[in-house]
Amino acid sequence: MDMDALKRQAAARALEEVRDGMKLGLGTGSTAKHFVELLGDKVRAGMKVIGVPTSEATRADAIRCGVPLTTLDEIDHLDLTIDGADEIDPALNLIKGGGGALLREKIVAAASDRMIVIADDSKWVDVLGRFPLPVEVIPFGLAATQAAMARAFTDAGVSGQMVIRKGKDGHAFVTDGGHWIIDAHLGRIGDPPRLAGLLSVIPGVVEHGLFIGLGSVAVLAGAQGIRVVE
Ligand code: 5RP
Repeated sequence: MDMDALKRQAAARALEEVRDGMKLGLGTGSTAKHFVELLGDKVRAGMKVIGVPTSEATRADAIRCGVPLTTLDEIDHLDLTIDGADEIDPALNLIKGGGGALLREKIVAAASDRMIVIADDSKWVDVLGRFPLPVEVIPFGLAATQAAMARAFTDAGVSGQMVIRKGKDGHAFVTDGGHWIIDAHLGRIGDPPRLAGLLSVIPGVVEHGLFIGLGSVAVLAGAQGIRVVE
């Protein structure tokens, strides 16, 4: 079975947790896109839900699929967020931000009672870090921010190259919030909560892609079927 079919299976399993009347966080990425499409089918069949998209791309998908939308300016709390991830460890710590939406994704996840992480099982890892850690930064003072990040990496016992993410036009990739992303190639993050704490206090860091304690359940689709990890 191809990867995309596995992603859709994970999305379909997560959809079983959605109830009429729920306020939903809608994630970003190819797996979350499957969820939005399947949710659109339910809405057309009469299900009443409202969603908060985590990116402009997901907003466009949700509108195309007929999913009613609101914002976290109009409501302050969500019942459930469904989102993908780049890596998931056994404590359900995540690396997110491969699609560049980590800031809104984290705001939405943190405003939700529960977060279901949907993925093909290649995203499951023993230790986070093989996927480069996305860190959303303010372009102002970039060298100083990178120096502070390097110190945080040393304090957390990791090291590696920092690469400014480029967009398709060859210039720095700009997030929905108008910021840049540094992808940190760390290889192995032994203590994700410690690194998360150290990065969070750097002034030029807007947010980082370590999601600690936000994932409630992981739905992983693989060749052997669906595995649900809580
Ligand atoms: C976007 C994300 C995505 O959830 C993550 O990159 C996974 O994407 P995909 O479902 O396409 O593999 O964090 O910022």
